Amino acid sequence: MKDILDQFRLGHHDFDSGKLEGFEGLDPYDLFELWAKEAINNKELEPNAFVLSTVNSNGQPSSRVLYLKDIIKKQFVFYTNYKSKKGEEIAGNSKVSMLFFWPDSSRQIRIEGVCTRVDSQISDDYFNSRPRGSKIGAWASHQSDELTGRDELEHRVKMYEEEFKNEVPRPGHWGGYQIEPLSFEFWQGRPSRLHDRIIFTSSKGLWDIYKQNP
Ligand SMILES: Cc1cc2nc3c(=O)[nH]c(=O)nc-3n(C[C@H](O)[C@H](O)[C@H](O)COP(=O)(O)O)c2cc1C
Repeated sequence: MKDILDQFRLGHHDFDSGKLEGFEGLDPYDLFELWAKEAINNKELEPNAFVLSTVNSNGQPSSRVLYLKDIIKKQFVFYTNYKSKKGEEIAGNSKVSMLFFWPDSSRQIRIEGVCTRVDSQISDDYFNSRPRGSKIGAWASHQSDELTGRDELEHRVKMYEEEFKNEVPRPGHWGGYQIEPLSFEFWQGRPSRLHDRIIFTSSKGLWDIYKQNP
């Protein structure tokens, strides 16, 4: 392990991709869009992947990577299984956080907010746009439940292939969530750990902005 830690240390380069400036007058959604466009231009791997953290009834947080699929009425949308671990945790505590990390741009964005289910029509529309294999997968995977083996999963895939020969309806346990942001942090890596950070917090529909120490 020591070797690996040494390699990590030697492989680390100081962040030096630019400064966080010119944000005056922008709202956090404008800045998010600008950075997302730059993440795409910088050829970040999986730029729409983010880490979602939820908390269980014991106060234990857990995190996993998801894809951002839409922004609807200023809410960040992803799709998943409502009965999954994250689904259960959101049902018990709707406060969540999202984290985007775009290493080639030396940037991270942290968002804290409240998570609710999207309208079923939105989930239907998205589900219907997916390839057949993904639709069958949504039925076959009992996401986050224990699996006895690959056979169990493949058996259910076959079962649903048989059951839904033509159209595959959206399972009631599968759909979208939307996150309403209450705060954003935009972090730009700078040399010598003197990074730029700005925080937007929501107050009565307006955004307060301040800088934070790195
Ligand atoms: C790049 C990437 C994107 C992912 N996107 C999704 C997604 O959009 N929805 C989803 O349910 N799981 C997605 N996953 C899988 C999740 O990370 C996770 O394993 C799964 O949702 C089960 O999480 P849970 O048991 O905490 O509920 C993705 C994983 C990776 C690595």
